[in-house]
Amino acid sequence: MILIKLGGSVISDKRKYKEFREEGVRKIVKYLPKRDLILVHGGGSYGHILAQEYRIREGFEEWKRIGFARIGVDMQELNLKILNILLEEDIPAISVPPHSLFVMGNSPNLEIFHYAVNLGFVPLTFGDIILHREQGIDICSGDYMMLHLAREFRPQFTIFLTDVDGIYDRDPEEKDAKLIEVLERDVEPETAIKVKDVTGGIAYKIRVMREIANYSKVYVLNGFHPERIRSIIEGEKTVGTVVK
Ligand SMILES: Nc1ncnc2c1ncn2[C@@H]1O[C@H](COP(=O)(O)OP(=O)(O)OP(=O)(O)O)[C@@H](O)[C@H]1O
Ligand SMILES: [Mg+2]
Repeated sequence: MILIKLGGSVISDKRKYKEFREEGVRKIVKYLPKRDLILVHGGGSYGHILAQEYRIREGFEEWKRIGFARIGVDMQELNLKILNILLEEDIPAISVPPHSLFVMGNSPNLEIFHYAVNLGFVPLTFGDIILHREQGIDICSGDYMMLHLAREFRPQFTIFLTDVDGIYDRDPEEKDAKLIEVLERDVEPETAIKVKDVTGGIAYKIRVMREIANYSKVYVLNGFHPERIRSIIEGEKTVGTVVK
């Protein structure tokens, strides 16, 4: 089993509302295995911009209803675009939207993923709006789904694709940022966290990756160079971060 997240930073331009990177996604899909694969995609500018505007993570208030529902629609729109590309490349993907799978505060029920994988389908889930047991509404991030899927399936490889080469020792936009090739699970990486991201961005991602490293080989690769996915699967050395 291989678990891959198509980061929102790769599949969309995070600065522009609903800016889909179709060619980039097509290129990535050509390097994906056709089975024994679970996919997760992030929200990018289909999710984060409105999630922030409507302060979804701060819980329910009446004025947020339309915004919350709108993000749900936008995410399904993004999901549909990716599903279509997967199908065109002969990957039998089926969509599993978190908001109709579970209520946050409870663990996601992953039964559907097992059934789908056993029949040779490729489940595709994503960062989504979600109802919350206590605070009413929340965001279920793609990274959160990655964590639960890795715990459940113990994939051979877990790969996070982002728009940079891996995890850096500070914000990669800073001039002296250096790629961390091996991120040790128990060493606190000196990362500057400056990106605006309602799901906690890179700090949360690092926490998630460290836990997943208990169950799986975890890599962060640049989604603009998807041939690196193949290198990892074939056991070759490539540019990226491995979490050990
Ligand atoms: N120390 C760091 N190392 C690597 N990336 C970093 C670091 N600090 C900030 N970043 C930024 O984090 C981004 C990746 O995380 P981000 O949550 O924005 O994307 P994503 O997870 O692909 O998107 P989504 O949350 O929509 O799925 C990169 O675009 C990068 O610029
Ligand atoms: Mg993110």
